[in-house]
Amino acid sequence: MEISFIGAGNMAWHLAPALENAGHHINEVYSRQLTHARQLVSNLYDAHTHSSLNLADSVSRLFVLAVPDDAIDAVCQRLVLPENALLVHTSGSIALSSLEDGMRVYSDVPVHTGVFYALQTFTKNQPFMSFERIPVCVEGGDAVIEELLVDLAQQLSDTVYVLPSPERQRLHLSAVFAANFTNHLLGISHDLITDLGLSFETLHPLITETIRKALAASNPTDVQTGPARRGDLGTVESHLGLLEDQPHLSEIYQVLTSNIQRVYRS
Ligand SMILES: NC(=O)c1ccc[n+]([C@@H]2O[C@H](COP(=O)([O-])OP(=O)(O)OC[C@H]3O[C@@H](n4cnc5c(N)ncnc54)[C@H](OP(=O)(O)O)[C@@H]3O)[C@@H](O)[C@H]2O)c1
Repeated sequence: MEISFIGAGNMAWHLAPALENAGHHINEVYSRQLTHARQLVSNLYDAHTHSSLNLADSVSRLFVLAVPDDAIDAVCQRLVLPENALLVHTSGSIALSSLEDGMRVYSDVPVHTGVFYALQTFTKNQPFMSFERIPVCVEGGDAVIEELLVDLAQQLSDTVYVLPSPERQRLHLSAVFAANFTNHLLGISHDLITDLGLSFETLHPLITETIRKALAASNPTDVQTGPARRGDLGTVESHLGLLEDQPHLSEIYQVLTSNIQRVYRS
């Protein structure tokens, strides 16, 4: 299939080569800053950059919208697609209906819409990821589009779900706790230990074992340890004392501690 990308960030960096490896042809890549599109194109077979959102003359059938969630509507307002093109967004949290409604209002020609959400964390300039073990959630504006997206997703991934928007949004919420918040906490941990003059690697065995145990358990709650879990209130107080001059961290510590205590009280 002929495919175009709108956006050349983290998501596009990994999804575009994966689609090429599955035998598709990436035609063009649009980004506001052309250098970003050029960077992505340099990793593709013979895609070219596109500097405007007028893609009316494109030969592509599928247009992948890989811009931040909050930019989707603004991009749709300026996007000009060929008649009967298929436009998918890649977001975990934007409802398909907002893309449908947007294109109905902004596009002069009929456009099909869908969702192609890959449940993974993607960062550009990292080695390209295989999608084989990444769950992909699709949703189509109608049964034909949905079938096409399932087929496309199955060419990339062993795990494909057809998921309506409300379920996908809840799945994304779960993913934010699992990945984004965990990574943020690791960043805090990094700053606290390096302030002490020790390297972050000192924590690697602890982090590795924590994740290993959580994945091996039927529920990570079963293998929780630490002062809040044990009820060591003296230790909790002493940690809060150490965070006296960092009220934002103290707040995070107290919120997490009180939630751990709530879970194990019941
Ligand atoms: N990253 C992940 O881990 C991940 C995982 C699953 C799903 N997703 C979804 O994938 C989508 C893209 O996320 P991302 O992480 O790839 O974002 P990103 O790295 O921030 O990339 C954004 C791309 O969109 C362009 N852009 C930003 N604001 C724009 C605007 N107002 N108008 C036009 N273009 C704009 C940027 O242009 P410039 O290049 O010119 O700056 C860039 O090319 C989101 O819907 C996100 O929810 C991301």
